Amino acid sequence: MLKEQIKNVLIRRLYENENIPYELLLLADPSRELIDKYLKTSEVYVALLDNDIIGTYVLYPVSPNVIEIKNISVDDEYQGRGVGTQMLRDAFKKANEKCFKAIIIGTGNSSVGQLYLYQKAGFKIIEIRKDFFIDNYPEPIYENGIQVKHMIVLRKQL
Ligand code: ACO
Repeated sequence: MLKEQIKNVLIRRLYENENIPYELLLLADPSRELIDKYLKTSEVYVALLDNDIIGTYVLYPVSPNVIEIKNISVDDEYQGRGVGTQMLRDAFKKANEKCFKAIIIGTGNSSVGQLYLYQKAGFKIIEIRKDFFIDNYPEPIYENGIQVKHMIVLRKQL
């Protein structure tokens, strides 16, 4: 059955005194250690529906010209209803306003749906970081019945 799109989300930066939405961040990245590492130099954005946080994304400057979406996630209950697409568009807008020239995003070799979503949003595959998930995560990760081994890096010119 086709799920109804959610059009009335509000996307804003996480306030300094607000709790970090770890539950959501861990959906996209199972390592709390890595999350804490990149959050030190990142900006966290949240998507709200009726004042409840239902999504989040993280922007991490990689170089003066390139910014990375390090983490993007939507609460299970609200996935597949357009919130991820709206957050991607918001990230492009923020990156543009900050005068970055390109935006990158990385995902696992097994993340078929995410690869579809990112390419549909205009990202192009530029690199495969071989064994990234084996070398950087303590436990093997499986998704869609396949082991997540390599990181597929995609880039979009802004
Ligand atoms: N499997 C299959 N299709 C998917 C998936 C998926 N996991 N994710 C998105 N899609 C498709 C949708 O079906 C939809 O297709 P359509 O436009 O043809 O109808 C399209 O992509 C857009 O989907 P949205 O509804 O905008 O995406 P959503 O709100 O579900 O957000 C997200 C996408 C963030 C990947 C969400 O599904 C999620 O939180 N997943 C779990 C965490 C995760 O994997 N995050 C990304 C890891 S990589 C990183 O963080 C850099």
